Amino acid sequence: MTNQPKRYLITAALPYANGLKHIGHLAGAYLPADIYVRYLRAQKRDVAFICGSDEHGTAIPIQAMKEGTTPRAIIDKYHELIRQNFADLGISFDIYHRTSEPIHHETSREWFTYLNDRGELIVKESEQYYDEEAKTFLADRFIVGTCPVCGNPRAYGDQCENCGSSLSPEILIDPHSTLSGASPVKRATKHWYLPLDRHEAFLREWILGEHKNDWRASVVGQCKSWIDGGLQPRAVTRDLDWGVKVPLADAEGKVLYVWFDAPIGYVSATRQWGLDTGKDWKPYWYDKDTKLVHFIGKDNIVFHCLIFPVMLKLHGNILPDNVPANEFLNLEGDKMSTSRGWSIEMEEYIDDFIRKDNGGSQLADSLRYYLTTIAPETKDADFTWKGFQDANNSELVAKLGNFVNRTFVLMHKLCNGKVPPLHASKLDDTDREMIAAVGATKKKVEELLEAYRFRDAQFEAMMLSDLANKYMQKKEPWIVARTLAEHPENQQLIDNSLHICLQVTANLAILINPFLPFTARKMMHMMKVVEKMLDWENAGKPNLLSVGYSLRAPELLFRKIEDEEVKKQIERLQAKAAAKLAADQAATATPSSGEAQTGNTGSGKASAKPAGTTAGEAAPAKSTIVYDDFAKLDLRVGTIINAEKVEKADKLLKLLVDLGTEQRTIVSGIAQHFEPAGIVGRQVVVVANLAPRKMRGIESNGMILMAEDGSGKLHFVNPEDKIAPGSGVS
Ligand code: MF3
Ligand code: ZN
Repeated sequence: MTNQPKRYLITAALPYANGLKHIGHLAGAYLPADIYVRYLRAQKRDVAFICGSDEHGTAIPIQAMKEGTTPRAIIDKYHELIRQNFADLGISFDIYHRTSEPIHHETSREWFTYLNDRGELIVKESEQYYDEEAKTFLADRFIVGTCPVCGNPRAYGDQCENCGSSLSPEILIDPHSTLSGASPVKRATKHWYLPLDRHEAFLREWILGEHKNDWRASVVGQCKSWIDGGLQPRAVTRDLDWGVKVPLADAEGKVLYVWFDAPIGYVSATRQWGLDTGKDWKPYWYDKDTKLVHFIGKDNIVFHCLIFPVMLKLHGNILPDNVPANEFLNLEGDKMSTSRGWSIEMEEYIDDFIRKDNGGSQLADSLRYYLTTIAPETKDADFTWKGFQDANNSELVAKLGNFVNRTFVLMHKLCNGKVPPLHASKLDDTDREMIAAVGATKKKVEELLEAYRFRDAQFEAMMLSDLANKYMQKKEPWIVARTLAEHPENQQLIDNSLHICLQVTANLAILINPFLPFTARKMMHMMKVVEKMLDWENAGKPNLLSVGYSLRAPELLFRKIEDEEVKKQIERLQAKAAAKLAADQAATATPSSGEAQTGNTGSGKASAKPAGTTAGEAAPAKSTIVYDDFAKLDLRVGTIINAEKVEKADKLLKLLVDLGTEQRTIVSGIAQHFEPAGIVGRQVVVVANLAPRKMRGIESNGMILMAEDGSGKLHFVNPEDKIAPGSGVS
């Protein structure tokens, strides 16, 4: 290692407080950052670990609209939930701050003013979409229309969530404002820009020169393609009423762009941390002897490697020493996405495995462990519940847990519950190799951690428990114990092997502590040692536990994950995704149900017919499924026995459907196609095992199938002759 910095400033991307965060976020930034910080703290380095909620940007008011509440209520709710989720998983921030705090607004305005006063920002006029009814400019996210690529009628002005295409409001078909439903018009507006193009030479030299080899190749590569593509001035203000007000008289109704103020959130959080702890925060951002490291996911690379560094340089601050961005984490072979319901939120994991499992913080470590074994450091990785179960059962339980447990059980049985003495004259090569392995492991783990290779570092630490199991297997103190009647001197062999196993246990606690902090604490408790023993400098020492010291009875470090639990999680995931899909389809068939869009005559056009599909060209077929996929559907014939309009939702009908053995309430987006009275008595095909879902406060239990012709008109799909309700369809 080269000469050590005086202090460390470690940041993890500030999550948007607009919803729960999933385990992909955890694996991307927060967990590796926490491992690194825990290692630094054990090294007694001076470190500040900074994070908090990103509470600005259009994501917040949009979520407020979805939940029918205020932006303030949204950030208050999600800030607290996310903060608690991180704490439950052992992410040990020194501060978890908020960008809605006055100190942050003040700090961000100071930065803007500083740059603007020095001529580092430029002003440009441009045409932007404006909502004449709501009398406001519209951010891209406030404009929806039909996606020109896939035909999704609810694509946003910046992106289609159905096909993933990047869009701009100009290319949306039939764009309208989500605020009033009005068609947006173009209007001139003025904005402040950071002219990145002026800083190309600096960025080129700094990233592609200085950090070419010590930053991850994927990070350098992404920066290079941005720089080579030509850097453009980036707008740092927006026409929006949610955010940090631009501190200029001629900027009425404008706020700082969220990506301008959010990274400054790291600075304001550090200031607040200084106030809270009495520490001087300034050297952390100004002294060259500080090592600044940003932990982020790969979608944040440009902001942390190009834009914020330019701001830092212009404002006179230090630059990041590294930005170890991770790739993405997939889930069961598919992209993780909260909006599609294909995700595991931290909250869900905590609820199922930690809160409901007595003293379940061991299962926080199980998740940390598995996420680190598959850490997406160099390529996308895949989380599977089976993989999680295997990692827990065959590594944590069978290796680490088993070794520690056997050591303690045998020590109580064969050595009176005390650390036995070491008889030097009786040591053999196997003993010496075991002792040497401890020191070697420490060195490897340390080098890997310093290089941000968390996956390999954890692997090496766990390898030590593997070696230790083999060592114990070879020494077999429980077999040696049978010879004691004839050869009492063999107690010395038993003493030696258990002495070494106990010292290895103490070392394991130190080495796994950054990765598995809850487990390390449990081990400390069993060994009756204090936190100080976990100091990194103690790792590699063969004499951490004193001879004669009596230790506690063993506690189980990990518990097995049963097949049943895994099955339940997979089913729950599938049900969640299916419910989201049904919700989206209902919303697609009724685009105005969630938003003010009245008077827009085109809105009755149902479902996603790709724009530009010509008569001869088939709609994109869905991918092939196997019979088992089909067999999951419980399709049955039902008879509609009542139908009524749903208040304030002009697309929805509330149906009561007789399924023979029961009557179901089903909310369906067909109100613009049928009069309620006209469909009572008709038969329909029902998806009877669709997860229930609330629409307009009414729980819908199933879905009815309809056919749609080329004009968008809906037709019943039903048996040719009336048959008994409840009859299966297959
Ligand atoms: N809120 C952003 C996201 O979730 C990350 C902001 S990182 C910061 O993608 F640097 F801007 F704070
Ligand atoms: Zn699309």
